[in-house]
Amino acid sequence: MNYDFDKLVNRRGTNSLKWNVEENELPMWVADMDFETAPEIIEAMHTRLMHGVFGYSDIPEEWSEAYVKWWKDRHQFQMEKDALIFCTGVVPAISSIVRKLTTPAEKVLIQTPVYNIFFNSIVNNGRQVLQSPLAYDGVNFDVDFERLEKDLSDPQTSLMILCNPHNPVGKIWSRETLARIGELCKKYHVTVISDEIHCDLTAPEKFYIPFAAASDICKEISITCIAPTKAFNIAGLQTSAVYVSDENLRHKVWRGLNTDEVAEPNAFAIDVAIAAFSRGENWLDELREYIQENKKVACTYIQEKLPELYVVPSEATYLLWIDCSRITKDTKALADRIRERTGLYLSEGSQYGSNGNEFLRLNVACPRERLYDGLERLKMGIDV
Ligand SMILES: Cc1ncc(COP(=O)(O)O)c(C=O)c1O
Repeated sequence: MNYDFDKLVNRRGTNSLKWNVEENELPMWVADMDFETAPEIIEAMHTRLMHGVFGYSDIPEEWSEAYVKWWKDRHQFQMEKDALIFCTGVVPAISSIVRKLTTPAEKVLIQTPVYNIFFNSIVNNGRQVLQSPLAYDGVNFDVDFERLEKDLSDPQTSLMILCNPHNPVGKIWSRETLARIGELCKKYHVTVISDEIHCDLTAPEKFYIPFAAASDICKEISITCIAPTKAFNIAGLQTSAVYVSDENLRHKVWRGLNTDEVAEPNAFAIDVAIAAFSRGENWLDELREYIQENKKVACTYIQEKLPELYVVPSEATYLLWIDCSRITKDTKALADRIRERTGLYLSEGSQYGSNGNEFLRLNVACPRERLYDGLERLKMGIDV
């Protein structure tokens, strides 16, 4: 390995949301990583920093070219350069699109359990959350197409937010699944926001399918949110892109993002995105290997020492979705107990909707030594 993912970085004292915890506590909840970002990104920031003037920024051609090249080379998907719009983040983009494309009290469909902030983007804008639960057979999650069609056919449903790959269940949706979702959405006049922020965090040798690449219909009816922030651990730098192929839809989205004042970059946002997508490949590939090994370590540990828990197989993200249904249907209480007893801070599953109350989410994106500490605390917290 050329990059040192074993390095223990002390994140206390940096106003880290994740690490704003007591001295004895170990946070493995919110989705950011305990690794330093790629040196190639730090170097780009350093150059920008040393310039010393931090006025308003413009968005150069190189920015969209870097996205287009990365998606073409890594994900075999050709985006039109002019179809990309800068946004300060995926959540700001989603909230803005919800406001622009739906009216108050309309329904926005999400496939639960899913990233909890989707609920906020809908509810805080006065729209209704329509939970269309994924099917779970005790082993894997998948789309329940019968239920999805019923929910999409509700005339109040005008927008769907897809999580591709899916947080928290770690699923990479197949081309067939995505194309079928696209057909149903087209049939019922539902626009799709595809949140693809986790797309570069797939297992080694595995790649995701962009929703817009699944079929012509998918491309026509969708808005795709992408960013280097999850994969390169630069969420605090607030940089993302919105890809909309259809011109009319793009114009609306662009107006919405501008009206909401979330379309202008800070002084580092452009340079870090260009550095990530032009020079970050080797770092990312090593990171994916490291995360894969962490997942293996965690799954083996849980299988051997905590057989009453079940880890849902995960092909993407650095998050493990742990089925605790054999010991509780109230993982909020369980997470509180684990934290109180051992200091391990996990995400309780009920905030992700549907059967989330039977699950805990564990973030394994940390040096292995810290992961072992977390697993031992988990065991201590579960064992009475
Ligand atoms: C699915 C998903 N979308 C969006 C975000 C956050 O995006 P941003 O920081 O760009 O607003 C996260 C963060 O965990 C996420 O998991």
